[in-house]
Amino acid sequence: MALEKKATLLIKNIGQLITMEGLVPRIGKSMSDLRLIENGGVAVAGDEILAVGKSDLVEGQSTLAEGCLVIDAKGMVVTPGFIDPHTHPVFSMTREKEFEMRLQGKSYMEIAQAGGGIRASVRDLRSTPFDILKEKTKERLDRFLQYGVTTIEAKSGYGLSTESELKQLEIIRELNQTHPLDLVPTFLGAHEVPDEYRDQKEKYIDILINEMLPAVTKDNLAEFSDVFCEEGVYTVEESRRIQKEAAKLGLQLKFHADELKSTGGAELAASMDACSADHLVYISEEGIKAMARSGTAAVLLPGTTFSLGGKKYAPARSMIEAGVPVALSTDCNPGSSYSESLPMIISLAALEMKLTAAEAISTVTVNAAYAIDRQDIIGQLKPGYQSDITIWNMSDYRELPYHYGVNLAAKVIKKGKLVANN
Ligand code: NIG
Ligand code: FE
Repeated sequence: MALEKKATLLIKNIGQLITMEGLVPRIGKSMSDLRLIENGGVAVAGDEILAVGKSDLVEGQSTLAEGCLVIDAKGMVVTPGFIDPHTHPVFSMTREKEFEMRLQGKSYMEIAQAGGGIRASVRDLRSTPFDILKEKTKERLDRFLQYGVTTIEAKSGYGLSTESELKQLEIIRELNQTHPLDLVPTFLGAHEVPDEYRDQKEKYIDILINEMLPAVTKDNLAEFSDVFCEEGVYTVEESRRIQKEAAKLGLQLKFHADELKSTGGAELAASMDACSADHLVYISEEGIKAMARSGTAAVLLPGTTFSLGGKKYAPARSMIEAGVPVALSTDCNPGSSYSESLPMIISLAALEMKLTAAEAISTVTVNAAYAIDRQDIIGQLKPGYQSDITIWNMSDYRELPYHYGVNLAAKVIKKGKLVANN
């Protein structure tokens, strides 16, 4: 039967077409189910997927619109455009000096307590003009796209004043409108305590609750609220208080939890029905059980352990066994993980967390979509879903973790348009 709409894009001769249709989120063994079609094809009408199936069949069903782009994938692998559910992309100054200090033995927290870390980024962001900041951010978005990523979550958190938090969220909004990449905005006013309130954390929390949150939500500048729940930053009680107010204003919840120590952050996230809890290197047994029960996504960030020179990675296998929906992300930020490469993160997850290639692909497609509440439009190649597609220069998807440190994204399609051609 002929398709209802004319195709504006047809991809044929796909060696392995990974559709990811089926269970959302993927938990336990279902993470290995890629719904892979050999010798597949995809037809697209504008920003929507029309059909997926065997190459001949899809081609036979399709009526090509005038100017339809036909891509012969020549046996390559095709996946849904990858999704990065945890990034901090809005910053100007980079922090390579801190990276070197860490190589010489200083810890991330020592550098932060001495006034470096997030607070150094805050001082810089406040004094950087809007347009420069926007341009620097745009360069990072370009890189995400080149590496096969078509949607990212993007956090504020380097302003820590009403004015500067809004500045970042406005940059995220403008770039979402003008850049091919989709950005899902998160308010992270509780990323640190700014210099001027160092000894008056309570006062800063009051400002965050009474001034910042209402200003952010009034203009619909964020969908999520996040806090850095960690020893030396925000306690479980403080995090709960902030997130309760955020939820009242209609924001969904995310947490930076149990990154450097076990503090009960995962349990808190589960008890508040958070969309995700992220990092989780030191998650407790109880935390794992609680997240499995609440269906809170675990966004794991092995690039952070790697770049901080740590030895301990989040216990991904225990989480998968317990039925927690696991996603992966770069955590792209100037301090603990400066990378826009999700494929590199997949290699780390394979080597250090023992994820298979199939499981890893689940984490950056359906499960990443679930972690940002976009599971109904992205993360799968399925009729009616957004036409975000990556063509990989490989004939077997298992090359993804194995062939590391190079860019294997051959073509990236966003909303039906070819946006990267490597
Ligand atoms: O996710 N953990 C807190 N926030 C970031 C680091 C931010 C920074 O160091 O600038 C993270 O790792
Ligand atoms: Fe982070």
